[in-house]
This record gives sequence, structure tokens and C-alpha cells, in this order.
Amino acid sequence: REEKESLGVKDDLKLTLNAVKVLEARYLLKDEDGKIIETPRQMFRRVASHIGIIEALYDFMEYKKTGKIPENAEKIGKVSLTQEEVLRRAFNYMKEDGIMEGTFEEFMDFLSTKGTSAHLYINKFEEMMSSLDFVPNSPTLMNAGTKLGQLSACFVLPVGDSIEDIFETLKNTALIHKSGGGTGFSFSRLRPKDDIVGSTKGVASGPVSFMKIFDVTTDVIKQGGKRRGANMGILNYNHPDIMEFVLSKDSENKVLSNFNISVGVTDEFFEKLDNDDYVDLINPRTKKVTKRIKAKELWDAIIDQAWKTADPGLIFLDEINRKNPVKNVGDIESTNPCGEQPLLPYESCNLGSINLSKYVNGKDIDYDRLRETVWLATRFLDDVIDANKFPVEQIKKVTRMTRKIGLGVMGFADLLIKLEVPYNSWEALEIAEKVMSFINEESHKASQHLAEERGVFPAWYGSEWEKEGIKMRNSTTTTIAPTGTISIIAGCSSSIEPIFALAFVRHVLNGQELLEVNPLFEEKTRSLGLYSEELMRKVAETGNLENIEINEEIKKIFVTAHEVDPQWHVLMQATFQRYCDSGVSKTINMKSDATREDIAKAYRMAKDLHCKGITVYRDKSKTVQVLTAGTTE
Ligand code: CDP
Repeated sequence: REEKESLGVKDDLKLTLNAVKVLEARYLLKDEDGKIIETPRQMFRRVASHIGIIEALYDFMEYKKTGKIPENAEKIGKVSLTQEEVLRRAFNYMKEDGIMEGTFEEFMDFLSTKGTSAHLYINKFEEMMSSLDFVPNSPTLMNAGTKLGQLSACFVLPVGDSIEDIFETLKNTALIHKSGGGTGFSFSRLRPKDDIVGSTKGVASGPVSFMKIFDVTTDVIKQGGKRRGANMGILNYNHPDIMEFVLSKDSENKVLSNFNISVGVTDEFFEKLDNDDYVDLINPRTKKVTKRIKAKELWDAIIDQAWKTADPGLIFLDEINRKNPVKNVGDIESTNPCGEQPLLPYESCNLGSINLSKYVNGKDIDYDRLRETVWLATRFLDDVIDANKFPVEQIKKVTRMTRKIGLGVMGFADLLIKLEVPYNSWEALEIAEKVMSFINEESHKASQHLAEERGVFPAWYGSEWEKEGIKMRNSTTTTIAPTGTISIIAGCSSSIEPIFALAFVRHVLNGQELLEVNPLFEEKTRSLGLYSEELMRKVAETGNLENIEINEEIKKIFVTAHEVDPQWHVLMQATFQRYCDSGVSKTINMKSDATREDIAKAYRMAKDLHCKGITVYRDKSKTVQVLTAGTTE
């Protein structure tokens, strides 16, 4: 408690110390002297009141159409200046889209004379976040109700084959990073290295060298000190520079350190691999074959490099486009940085995750309460699209056309532990299937309900949804994000990952050491009378129970990421993917002694199980590693 207060934060939500530290450093608003001016609850209140106020615009729209005023409407004499800014901007978006009648002044008048139910949603949204049942992605937390106002984590930008196009995209990238978003690109349209450049009769420098400019730009734009931007770089397997791309990252030099890279592969590539055939490398400018290489040669290089450095991953372009619900708008060529969100060029998406650890009732999952949260969170995420301040005009256009949202989960490992089910078990896969299919179905229903209230997303006409006769407000509703920071805020296990370490020693400044123990593990060992500082220090040496003498049942339930066989990791990813509109972010953790064959097997399995992409991470394969299990580094 004292420690939290020494950070200058009044913790009114009983958060963990780590949560308070993260909020203090990057989320809570500060005044010009750097003094914190809001509590965690006030932060959630700020977010709720700048998202929920959007409801008032839909109330007004309904009123103009039917003369109806919502039940429980409350007259609002005045909104805050920042709320007014959000409303005015959203009003104008709706005007541009041709769905809003009347003037803004008329709307403000409606608020004070007729009223709105927005306050009810504001309260519900605040409660849903303050209880840590649901947390939106970081940019929404950081920027709602601020000047920046950019609320989405995920963007994809096109990269055209000209200096003008490349630098236009570079500029847009900088604008997105500045506002806390991450960007993904396919560099496959760029002509290869040493190809001719018409205007200068010189030679082209190729995709990899241009990626380096994006990388440096990311370094320079530090997202206002809040977080460093992240990028996904994709090159298709048949680009002439593919080998250079595959080898572009290594663990020694920090080249492209702000990039995750993935090779864009298709079904055809796997056919060639299976038939030991050649791949034609094609210059995208001339469409001519420049060279042929054995598919196996490329595959081996990819696997070898992934073994050494964790990059490149794969993205399965055919699978992604088969599942693309808005083929009428275009083809997908890239995902966002962590791979969970396939997007069209210039499309963005805002995410949010439900904390599953909060939905355990005894030994059961509380589906009724989960349903309520899914519906409310879907509505919240749809409101975010209107409250959002888009950094680039074209992004606003495409995003509002498809209205993608990404509702996901976190705390899945905690849920399993509470249910006493090992992560690496068929029962865990069954739970994953049941929970995620439920969330997916309910969020679709919620989006259909919103479509009745507010209309379908504009690109619905001609979309796959239209062909199925299902009216939707959002072209996708579900995504499994990594929840890197928001799971710390919520104090739960991240995303759908197993527990990383049960105990570890954190080295803090001035040589002090802090022993941190997973709260569920502490609770369990205490309840069995097994807890001791000595035991925890021993566990902290490796982070797991592999070499600890403790009952077998506990060992199974508290299994950690590196003990889980890679195949279970892939199976878990594939299970969530089956019930997810967009993608699943998952790290296939491997022990440091994993072989190249293990990696090849995981990549292959991901393809066969219809994943949309795959990344593996072999322990210690990067010199700089964000999370390290165990004390010894
Ligand atoms: O937990 P949080 O909302 O901060 O983010 P996450 O779930 O770990 O990551 C979601 C997405 O945010 C990533 O896929 C990126 O698109 C973006 N991101 C970023 O741009 N820069 C970071 N440093 C972290 C995430």
C-alpha cells in the first residue's frame, strides 16, 4: 500500500503493485509538471464517459427517425468540453456517412430537452472496466478523452512501388505510432533489389532496405514515451528478395528490432513443398520470373532462421482470404504487428479483452454473466469506432466501412487453474472450444442486435454476411490479442497463454531483489499448508515445478509455458482460431534445446489445423528477451 502511494497513485481499485506501476508510468493522465491527476477508477471513468456518450448520437438518430426517446432517458444540460469534442467529431463522421440528420446544435438541444440513456451505458462501461471484467486495448485507455483521441491498436498500410508511395506510408506510420498504434505491411509490391529504376536509370534497393527506414522511424517516434511502436513486415514467398528477407533479422545485431517478420505463404507453396517442386520468384514490377528455387530450400531457410532468432513466422494468406468476410472491399495481404488481426490496406481495428478468470463460479463457468459482458463489450467496441479520432483520412474511411472490432479474452490459464484443469489436456481444449464458441456466437448476436438498432456496416452489401442473410453491425467481432499490458493491469494471465513462471525474482534498482509469486499458486500452496518462502525461492530458480517435490496433481495444474509441449500450444491456438473471426496471437514456446524439426512440425501443424499464422519462440534464441522464466539470466 505504502509502495503504491509512494508512486503518487491513489489505488482505489485494489490493483496489484505491478498494475499500479504500469498505470503510473504510462496510462494515468498527468499535468504539465508530470504529476498524476487521476486515479485508476477515474481513468476508467474517463474512458467510459468518452465512449458511452456516443450512445447519445444514436438516441438522437432514432428520435429523428421515429420520434422515440429511449426509456430511462435523462436530460443532459451540459457535457464536458472533451465529451463535446468527441460528439462533434462523431457527429460529423455520421454526417459524412449520410446517416445523420439535423445539425449539431439541434442535437445538443435534444440532449437538454429530451435526454439520452447514454449515462446508463457510461455507468455500465465504467463498472465493466473497474471490476477488471473487461479491459480495452491500451490506446483506448491512454487516449480516450485526450487531445490525441486515437483508440485503436491495429493498423495495416499498403506499400506501393514508388518513392512517393513508400514515403507517404512512412509518414502515416509515424502518425499511427505517435498515437500508440501498431502497423503491419506487406512489402511484396516493391520491386526487388537491383531492379531498374526508370527515372534515374539507377538500381532499386529492394524491400528489406526500405523496411530498415520504417524500423528507424519507429525507433525515433517513441509513441510519446508511452510505448514503442511495433511493426509486422510481410514478404510473399515468391518475391525475388525472399531469401534476403528471411535472413534479415539475426539475434546479434539489432537490425529490424521493431519488426516481427512473416513470410506470406499460400496453399500453392505447400503443394510445391510436398512435391519437392520449384518456386518461381517473380518480379512484381515486370511480373516476370527472375529465378527458381526449390521450395524445400526456402522452407529450410525459414525454419533454420526461426530456430535461431524466432523470425520469420508464417502467415497463411489463402486461409485468411478464405475467411475474409469483406471480399467485396478487397484482399488481405497483412496483419497487425502481433499477427492477431488480418486487415485490409488502410484498415484499423480496436480491441478489448474479457478477463476469463473472473467468470468462475465454484467449479463452473458463469455463462450468464459472461453473456452479459460479451454483449456490453461488443457495444462498447462498436461505440469506440465512432468516438475514435483517426490519424489518417483514408483509415477513417476504410475502418468505418467494415467496422471491425476485436473482442478477445485474457486470464484463460487462470480460468483453467481455478477449474483445476491442466493447460496441456484435452479437457482444456474442450473448455477453450466451449468458451470461445460461446463468446463468438454471443458477440455475433450482439452485433446483429446493434445492426437492427443502428444499421449494418456500410460494406455489408456485397459481403459474405449478406450472402448468408445475416445483418451485422461489424464485419468481424472476435480477435485474440496478446494483452501484453492490459493483462498486467487486470492482474491476470495473458491472453490464452499458459502461466509463464510460477515464481521469479525481480531485480529492482539498488541491488534489491523482489520475490514474486503467482497469486493462484500462492493461494493453493497456502491452502494446503505447503507455502514457505524457501519453497518459493526454489521454484523461482526455474519458474516451474519440474524438479520440485510436490504432489503430482499440483504439478499438472500449474504447468508453465515451457513445459507445455509445442503441439499443445498449436492445438490451443487452432482451437481458439476455429471460433474467432479474426486471428489468434499465440507464442508457441519451446525449450532452448528444441530442434529445427520441432519448429518445422509446429509450422506444418498450424497450416494443417487452419491457423492464420504462426510464430514460435525458442527460449534464449534472442539476446534481448522480454520475459525470462527463472532467476538465472
Ligand atoms: O495489452 P495491450 O492492449 O497494450 O496490447 P497487446 O494486446 O499486447 O497488443 C495488441 C496490439 O497492440 C499489437 O498487436 C499491436 O498492434 C499493438 N501494439 C503496439 O503497437 N506496440 C506495442 N508496444 C504493443 C502493442
